[in-house]
Amino acid sequence: MADKTLDTLFHDTLRDIYYAERKILKSLPKMARAARSPDLKAAFEKHKDQTEGQIERLQQVFDIIGKAARGKTCDAIEGILAEGEEIMDEYKDSPALDAGLLAAAQAVEHYEITRYGTLKRWATVLGMKDAAALLDETLQEESRTDEDLTGIADAAVNAEAMATDKPV
Ligand SMILES: [Fe+2]
Ligand SMILES: [Fe+2]
Repeated sequence: MADKTLDTLFHDTLRDIYYAERKILKSLPKMARAARSPDLKAAFEKHKDQTEGQIERLQQVFDIIGKAARGKTCDAIEGILAEGEEIMDEYKDSPALDAGLLAAAQAVEHYEITRYGTLKRWATVLGMKDAAALLDETLQEESRTDEDLTGIADAAVNAEAMATDKPV
């Protein structure tokens, strides 16, 4: 299609991340329930609340471009979350469960970071300062979440998986 422009691509990508965020919102309580470490549980619960705010920010961006807030199936997040489900299933009650959950959650954060980074840049190019600011706010939140998860991984979870999972 020769007539597709950057604003079309921006709208499509906004629909992609809107779909992804709503999927993530449904998945975070499951991950919180599955997590063994109280710190990891708390991190997932905190991020669930943040995700609600991120969805509202996306709705504001849809408003700015004068479009209805509607998602578009995002195959990438479906795949990443399916892998997370697989971990919960296959590592249930195992010492490495939290390490697997952390890895799955960080894959989600990295996906979001790449999407928000791109959308923020495009919003700037398209001259939408307010949209760029909203997208940047979420981008910072996702980056901090990723760092928090790294902190939890370094502090305890991976160490515990190693300590209790040694071959006998
Ligand atoms: Fe998010
Ligand atoms: Fe996130």
